[in-house]
Amino acid sequence: MWHPEPVIRHSIPETLWPTEEEAARSLLFQPVRVGRVELESRTWVPAMVPWRATEDGFVTRENLEWYGRFAAGRPGALVVEATGIRDVPSGPLLRIGHDRFLPGLRELVETVRRESHGRTRLFIQLIDFLAVKRRPEPSKFFERFLNVTDRHRQALAAFFDEEGWLGRDETEVRAFLKVAPDAVVERVLDERELESLHFGYRERVTDTHLGHVRELPRVLPELFAEAARRARAAGFDGVELHYAHAYTMASFLSRRNDRGDGYGGSREERVRLPLEVFRAVRSEVGDDYTVGVRFLGDEVIEGGSRVEDAAFYAAEFARAGLDFLSVSKGGKFEDAKRPKVGQAVYPYTGRSGYECMPTVLSDEAGPFGRNLSLSREVKRAVNGAGFQTPVVAAGGVGTFELAEEILRRGDADIVGAARQSLADPDWFLKTRAGLGTQVRRCTYTNYCEALDQSHKQVTCKLWDREGLSEPNVSLSADGRRRLLPPKWEGSRQ
Ligand SMILES: Cc1cc2nc3c(=O)[nH]c(=O)nc-3n(C[C@H](O)[C@H](O)[C@H](O)COP(=O)(O)O)c2cc1C
Ligand code: SF4
Repeated sequence: MWHPEPVIRHSIPETLWPTEEEAARSLLFQPVRVGRVELESRTWVPAMVPWRATEDGFVTRENLEWYGRFAAGRPGALVVEATGIRDVPSGPLLRIGHDRFLPGLRELVETVRRESHGRTRLFIQLIDFLAVKRRPEPSKFFERFLNVTDRHRQALAAFFDEEGWLGRDETEVRAFLKVAPDAVVERVLDERELESLHFGYRERVTDTHLGHVRELPRVLPELFAEAARRARAAGFDGVELHYAHAYTMASFLSRRNDRGDGYGGSREERVRLPLEVFRAVRSEVGDDYTVGVRFLGDEVIEGGSRVEDAAFYAAEFARAGLDFLSVSKGGKFEDAKRPKVGQAVYPYTGRSGYECMPTVLSDEAGPFGRNLSLSREVKRAVNGAGFQTPVVAAGGVGTFELAEEILRRGDADIVGAARQSLADPDWFLKTRAGLGTQVRRCTYTNYCEALDQSHKQVTCKLWDREGLSEPNVSLSADGRRRLLPPKWEGSRQ
């Protein structure tokens, strides 16, 4: 796990919890309108992939239990994990790219309604992503994946000062490179080929020589619109368009997007497809359905978008009629660590990943509320442009005190807490009941994120070994961890 150097180990800050009366009067527990729906409080559980869907992307009993458990804590809003909009295999991640996924998604909606007593509003995050292959065995890469061209022959001829390389056939070039020392390979392969060798092949939105990438602006609006139609049919209160982190739409917004077809280059061109996608979604689901967006306040990569870009996008999104703006940070492939052979690169292993889910191994600023300057700037831009679109902040918020301060200072309109809600989904209920001292507090050390990285069912270290032998406890595939936190005995609804 990446961390700043020199590193400072922070402890979880002491905090004061409100009495029941104080909580009732607080800003955090006041309602807020988000498009056509009203949240009963300004609490929000952002999307978290739990690795519980079937291999074909269907909702499982474990998914129902996971979302039901979050709903029982009654957050104002709960966002279902990044859900794929295409009808293509993508492992045990939820999918919404075909009507056959509707029955499972409907059950998920019903579960959340039941468990929250109808009090939690439910959104689903819609995602598109490009191909990312696992890091190959070098021998396989040279035998099968490398596209041998005259450029390689010329590089070999130049390196060895031997014209003979220009006439060598493909098999000979492959066989040679397979056993060549690194110094030779590094001179002969270009940057993208070296990346494919060391990290695994990864497509970019700028790969317009590939037909399906060139066509993204033609196909994505309809794919997102169809997915949103299904979300509405399944009963979700709204959708969150995933324009953040390492995925397709964030890559269109990125300053690194230099597509020359009118969908890259200037800010106006970079935001063009995200706006076209939104308009297609809006015209499919109508004005009376909540459609929001999650996007990056800062990409935290070299040459990437910064908060000024985010402020510009935010005003455009608000003007276009998006109903909420959820601000995240980082989480990119560009600075991710090299994966092991056979594994796929994971976009949360470099500095940008750290900034997305900061830990207590930090710098002076520490992980708590670390990203608030971004939501503050976004909110200022939106309000300055004459809109009141609610802004959601997230990143290291795990106390009532900090959440309340965020709202009081006007850094955001709604407060997201992902890991704290995983550590204790009942923390909203406990806080509201004046029982904040009973909150199981996240330690921000990212055991959960490591599970996500290795595609294992996500749990929290604070509760996953408790009471394993109790009746009716669902266990992880290896039988060593419980999949849900124990019930809160003091719970009264
Ligand atoms: C296990 C795990 C899975 C996540 N999956 C998603 C996701 O599907 N979509 C998304 O936008 N963010 C995802 N995130 C990021 C969180 O939504 C959130 O932005 C981040 O954890 C920072 O907030 P926190 O400090 O309150 O945890 C994930 C985070 C974790 C820990
Ligand atoms: S495993 Fe639990 S305590 Fe650790 S960071 Fe994740 S949610 Fe917090």
